[in-house]
Parts: sequence; structure tokens; C-alpha cells
Amino acid sequence: MPPPFRHLISATQITKDILDRFFTVAEKMEKILVKKGRGTLLKDNVIATLFYEPSSRTMLSFEAAVQRLGGGMILAQGKENSSMKKGETIEDTIRMVMGYADLIVMRHPESGAAAKAASVSTVPFINAGDGGNEHPTQALLDLYTIRKEFGRLENLHIAMAGDLLYGRTVHSLSVLLGLLPKIRLTLIAPSELAMPKNVTAMLKEKGVEFKESENLADGIGADVLYMTRVQEERFKDRAQYERLKDKYILTAAHLKGSKAKVMHPLPRIHEITTDVDALPNALYFTQAKNGVPVRMALLAMMLGKA
Ligand code: NCD
Repeated sequence: MPPPFRHLISATQITKDILDRFFTVAEKMEKILVKKGRGTLLKDNVIATLFYEPSSRTMLSFEAAVQRLGGGMILAQGKENSSMKKGETIEDTIRMVMGYADLIVMRHPESGAAAKAASVSTVPFINAGDGGNEHPTQALLDLYTIRKEFGRLENLHIAMAGDLLYGRTVHSLSVLLGLLPKIRLTLIAPSELAMPKNVTAMLKEKGVEFKESENLADGIGADVLYMTRVQEERFKDRAQYERLKDKYILTAAHLKGSKAKVMHPLPRIHEITTDVDALPNALYFTQAKNGVPVRMALLAMMLGKA
């Protein structure tokens, strides 16, 4: 099949048709994982992963995905160890790496870095998080997880809580939720960390029912309670971070009688206590695991192999 898009920079590029095709491929990838552990779809490819900002799950699950499909890999990690430290531009880095690899995955601290990189790349490019802007592959794995858990992607009440301003995962997830029917959103954040206006404007335009709240209790009755970390690295004012960092702490006691599935892109810092981990509500480690088949599917599709 032809690739759904040349580069993946933003969740706004994903249509409902692409999403449906994507889920079918991701399910196939999961079968490869369960039955054989490894496939060969990428045996002729080399993938570059450039992570200029800390990452565990995204980086490792991309790398696991490449290996599970038999591909080769080249890696750059941390700005300290790369030419970024010497002042090389994003564009020049990409111009070089595209001579070494068939597809580039990049995480970068700057919002808009992914668009810059893709603008010069002659090989497919995937945004693995650009500053506080977007994280489209996380949104894909979040939806894949919800679909698997609930057996549907409609008629769901999703609450998102925490740092909705700087949290790039909730921006991309909101965009994808805007493609689905009968979704109700509750956006829970202190006013200083409320969802950016461009995202709420998009939700309005798409006719998604949403309400904004400052109270974590408003998320306990939802189908999904998506918690987020307060993004310490994005704050200009340290005192403001200190004041807001422990605003929402979800504990097992809050979830008494609640059927809400608790999701989190991870890492969690203070916002979910460990006594939640053993509850049937906890979905965050399963969510992280789903990163592998989801990223296998994306790589295979973007390289025209699925
Ligand atoms: C998130 C990120 O990097 O945006 N983590 C991830 O990719 N799973 C969330 C976060 O760092 O808080």
C-alpha cells in the first residue's frame, strides 16, 4: 500500500480512514510479536533515531519496533553528544542523516522542530515529540490502547488532567479524538496550565462536547482518566512549577467505586501514587507496551511495506 503521508509531523495529518487502516496494521504487528517475536518487513532498511531530549519509552519502543521488524538502526542521543552541541542547525543535521538512513525519527526540545526537519528531509520523517507542541505517535498508541480496552472508539467520556498547556501528548490526543463520534471530554487543569486555545478552538470546530474544570473529582466518573506530568522542563518560572507540580495527585482512595481506566504517557512523577498500580483501573503500563506494535505499524506503513 502507498504510505498514508510522506512525513508525520502532526496528528492533524491523520484522517479517520488512515486511523482505521493503521489499527488493522497494528493488530497484524501484534500477531507477529505474539507468534514469532520478530518479522522481516524492514530487513532492507536502516532507521535513524535522533533523540535530543530525554526519552525512555518513545525511544526504546521505536528501537524495539525496528528490531522486531528486522531493520538496522543508527542512533543519536542527547544534545551533549551530538553536533547540536556545536551549534549545527536541525536542517543541516537532517540533510546529513538522510544520507545514512531510509527513515528518520526525531525528538527535539523546540516546538516546531519537526516541521523544520521534515521541510528538508528527502526520506520519511516522524515527529517523536517537538517541545510542548505535539507527539502524534503517542496519540496513536493512546487510541490503540483505548480501542483495545473498550472494544470501541465512540461514545466515550475521556478526562485529561494535569499540565494540559505544555503536555504535548494531550494536544495530539485531542486532535485524534476530534475524529471520533460521540466523544465527551473533561479537561482538568489549573487555569495557568489550561489546554491551549488553538486546541479548544479545534474541538469546538469539530463539534466535540467538552468542559473545562479545575477539579480532579470531575474525572473519576469518566471512562478514561488520562493523567499527565507537570512538564518541569518547559517552565520559565521555577516558583510557578513548584506551586503547580502537586496540584493533582491521584490515589487508590480517589478511585474507590470508579471504573475509570487510568492512563498516563509516563513517566509519572507525583501525579499517580503507586497504590493505584495494582488496581484494575491502572492501564498505563499496558499503554506503554502498546508502543511497540503501534510504532512497528507506523514504520511499515511509512516505508510502504504495509
Ligand atoms: C511524554 C513526552 O515525552 O511527551 N512521554 C512519552 O513520550 N511517553 C510525556 C512526558 O514526558 O510527560
